[in-house]
Amino acid sequence: MHPTVNIAVRAARAAGDVVLRYHNQIDLLTIENKSENDFVSEVDKAAENAIINEIKKAFPEHSILGEETGEILGDSSYQWVIDPLDGTTNYLHGFPQYAISIALFEKKILTHGVVYDPFKEELFTASKGEGAYLNNERMRVTSTNGLQNTLIGTGFPFRHPQHLDCYLKTFKAIHPHVSGIRRAGSAALDLAYLAAGRLDGFWEIGLNSWDIAAGALLVKEAGGFIGDFSGRDQYLETGNVVAGNADVYKILLKTIHPHLTQELQR
Ligand code: IPD
Ligand code: CA
Ligand code: CA
Repeated sequence: MHPTVNIAVRAARAAGDVVLRYHNQIDLLTIENKSENDFVSEVDKAAENAIINEIKKAFPEHSILGEETGEILGDSSYQWVIDPLDGTTNYLHGFPQYAISIALFEKKILTHGVVYDPFKEELFTASKGEGAYLNNERMRVTSTNGLQNTLIGTGFPFRHPQHLDCYLKTFKAIHPHVSGIRRAGSAALDLAYLAAGRLDGFWEIGLNSWDIAAGALLVKEAGGFIGDFSGRDQYLETGNVVAGNADVYKILLKTIHPHLTQELQR
């Protein structure tokens, strides 16, 4: 494993310890409402601090973008993008589908990514050009052709109600052609599962860069494709994501596009 990924793994495990320490005592947590349907607990914040401490210990000069902390300015050639708990709503309900997501950009290029599910002890890692791994086993996306017999992941735009009608149109267009659609509640894990061949495709509107960055590298290093709704690579900026194995990615893009509002056609 690349030494930089080792640091990211150490940070993810430190955050995982925080997350697991509280997972049986959710009733005791103070939960704040950041905005409608957007919750944050002291676990999110403590997990983020644990990650930042580990990164700072190894790379005191690097800059960091954390979901809860915002930007920590440093050497802008190195930027860590972290989501200390992806799937907070699941976590707060004791629904065991959540993860820690940590990515590094070097000179704006995504070079390392870690998604860690502390509950299932599944560690997904990737470094640019070096493949993607689940607990040290190489991962590959599926090789299905067409949508028949595929399992597709998605997320509902619960924070962007203005996009719900459009989202439902894309859902209706995809639904009849696939075996199943799953809304599991952690975009980082959805992408990790796609990389691991547990899903064949994925789409979601309005994500943030910390939800996507590490998972995007997992998908690419596992031989998959990820893009925005135009099939370009602006997904970290727009938050609109389509991903899949080569064929499913192409078909999802084609299926979704006619149903998009003008605003989302980018
Ligand atoms: C959320 C999860 C969810 C997705 C949301 C994200 P959070 O992240 O990834 O699957 O549908 O859009 O914001 O808030 O639990 O870190
Ligand atoms: Ca998230
Ligand atoms: Ca989060």
